[in-house]
Amino acid sequence: MSLLRVEDVHIAYGKVEAVFGVSLVAERGGITTIIGPNGAGKTTLLASLAGLHPVSTGRVIFDGADISDTATEARLELGLVLVPEKRELFPEMSVEDNLQLGAYHRRWSGARALRDSLDNVYALFPRLKERRKQTAETLSGGERQMLALGRALMSKPRLLLLDEPSLGLAPIVTKHIFEIISNLSSDDVSIVLVEQNARAALAVARHGYVIEQGRIALEGRASELAADPKVARTYLGRN
Ligand SMILES: Nc1ncnc2c1ncn2[C@@H]1O[C@H](COP(=O)(O)OP(=O)(O)OP(=O)(O)O)[C@@H](O)[C@H]1O
Ligand SMILES: [Mg+2]
Repeated sequence: MSLLRVEDVHIAYGKVEAVFGVSLVAERGGITTIIGPNGAGKTTLLASLAGLHPVSTGRVIFDGADISDTATEARLELGLVLVPEKRELFPEMSVEDNLQLGAYHRRWSGARALRDSLDNVYALFPRLKERRKQTAETLSGGERQMLALGRALMSKPRLLLLDEPSLGLAPIVTKHIFEIISNLSSDDVSIVLVEQNARAALAVARHGYVIEQGRIALEGRASELAADPKVARTYLGRN
């Protein structure tokens, strides 16, 4: 059974539709990518999956249960965790306090468990450990992305929804972040990766969808999409 199944979902802002009948699946234990140009509806779709914006029609099934009407906090507790496009860190708080906030909904799980999670994040991102007392606003773009990922990991995700982790990062930093993302996906942690950087995304994903103007235009194995002449022409030229 797929971990996430999106069935014919429509999403609107007021009367204006932005997503028109999208269906997709994310299998357990891998990376599923959604690529597409500016304004295609990628962020809208991810925000809806996280429960931040309602779907007008269609269903979202997570781990076999219909969560179409489930609130954001309850989705978080199910393990559905968004790393938003704007990162949404607390700029004046320290790195460590930002990380601790990621575990807010697990605050009763005991000091030991939270400490272990923090140690895991620091092992994955030594740079964050070095800078744990620094405020989030003083971090570089790459470090902020690490902090956003680290904070998401503190909440014990089962499905990470990543919205353009490469946004605003230099190619070398993007490469590093994508290596980390690739290593993060495991039997326990699956990933939906939204990207404009199609080359980087298709290189780490197992399966991919191309979204254009709110509709799925193409789908397939990531390796097949990367070899598709239309995808190559439209999305692989610049990156
Ligand atoms: N709050 C909003 N109110 C009204 N329309 C919106 C709102 N947010 C997004 N839209 C519209 O929905 C459509 C999809 O936007 P969305 O941000 O989902 O695209 P995207 O694929 O994430 O683009 P990008 O790659 O630039 O981040 C666009 O036409 C956009 O103008
Ligand atoms: Mg977006």
